Amino acid sequence: MTTDPTSPAQPFEIFLVAAPGLEAVLCAEARDRGFTNPTMVKGGVTVTGGWPEVWRANLELRGATRVLARIASFRALHLAQLDKRARRVPWAEILRADVPVRVEASCKASRIYHAGAAAQRIERAIAEELGAPIVKGASKPTGKTAKGAAEDPGEEDTRAVQIKARIDDDLCTISVDSSGESLHKRGHKEAVNKAPMRETLAALFLRQCGYDGREPVPVVDPMCGSGTFVIEAAEIAAGLKPGRSRSFAFEQLANFDPALWRSLRGSGTSTPPAVRFYGSDRDAGAITMSRANAERAGVSAWTEFSHHAISDLTPPDGPPGLVIVNPPYGARIGEGKSLIPLYHAMGHTLKTRFAGWRVAIITNEAALAKATELPFGEDEVSVSNGGIKVTLYRTGVLG
Ligand SMILES: C[S@@+](CC[C@H](N)C(=O)[O-])C[C@H]1O[C@@H](n2cnc3c(N)ncnc32)[C@H](O)[C@@H]1O
Repeated sequence: MTTDPTSPAQPFEIFLVAAPGLEAVLCAEARDRGFTNPTMVKGGVTVTGGWPEVWRANLELRGATRVLARIASFRALHLAQLDKRARRVPWAEILRADVPVRVEASCKASRIYHAGAAAQRIERAIAEELGAPIVKGASKPTGKTAKGAAEDPGEEDTRAVQIKARIDDDLCTISVDSSGESLHKRGHKEAVNKAPMRETLAALFLRQCGYDGREPVPVVDPMCGSGTFVIEAAEIAAGLKPGRSRSFAFEQLANFDPALWRSLRGSGTSTPPAVRFYGSDRDAGAITMSRANAERAGVSAWTEFSHHAISDLTPPDGPPGLVIVNPPYGARIGEGKSLIPLYHAMGHTLKTRFAGWRVAIITNEAALAKATELPFGEDEVSVSNGGIKVTLYRTGVLG
């Protein structure tokens, strides 16, 4: 074992999961938030720290999908060795005997190649060394549990702490998922419309557009749906922590310190931003939803939502800023042809009325971006949003 995450003083590796394609943006955010040694790797960013940094990463990072605490790593050449070494992990210092655990394993380029068998060895080590109930299955409640499991498998499933074992080149790395539900669930959005942008992606796209809330820059989303971009931008400007309204899996771990957590989370105070954040949509239901979501997020004083089509969009009074929009797109490449007139009209509106502003569009077809006739730069960023590959197209300041 290289580091000891059970010792409060000793730093260990913390893995911040990022949407593939946006690792560099998350790395910049981690650096900005003062995390130690942020290093970009495939699928995420590593930083070093102790448990308070694990909690802070969950609380403060807008772009991380989840936060994994790497609790052990050892070589395992065969299942008997995995079994023996997994038993030496000081489980009782991290997990609680009364909280169910689910183990997920993966194997790559290793002598141990059967992920199911590897997971079973680790489950058995936890069950026998600690006595925690084991939940079987990938993510849905299955009801198949080891002895000692809670009676209601549904409830047990939602409470289960997830252990992830990755065996790569015969090296087994064991992590605890400290987040639980994906971090895009900020905990204050109940209403969602079709194809919502995940908050984590929205935050990384805003950052990729140079928006970090430090400059008093208004943000406009003229097809705002449930209001994701507008609410994220307002929260960033107000200095609100993204995880302030939700709970996390780490609260169920043996080493959780409620008093320290309360002081880290703070009072949730905000700094009223100097500018406003605007959303509009042609769908009246989307506007009702956005307002309700903004209210729950505590940003309704700084956001304005209006019901109209993009053809009626005009820039708000005040300084120019950023238009960021995620228009409708076809699920598969080529399906979006019928949307070309909409993209063309949107481009025309923005070019003719938004001089001095910057524009960012997220869509899944280059032909749709091209139909706007906006002067996008070459530095596109592509990422998967709910299984669809989408690309961020950005202009400089419009003339
Ligand atoms: C992909 S959704 C946007 C999702 C949004 N980013 C969110 O996170 O919820 C596209 C939105 O564009 C709106 N829309 C489509 N055509 C429009 C138009 N001509 N004017 C204004 N809004 C339009 C739809 O009503 C829909 O809410």
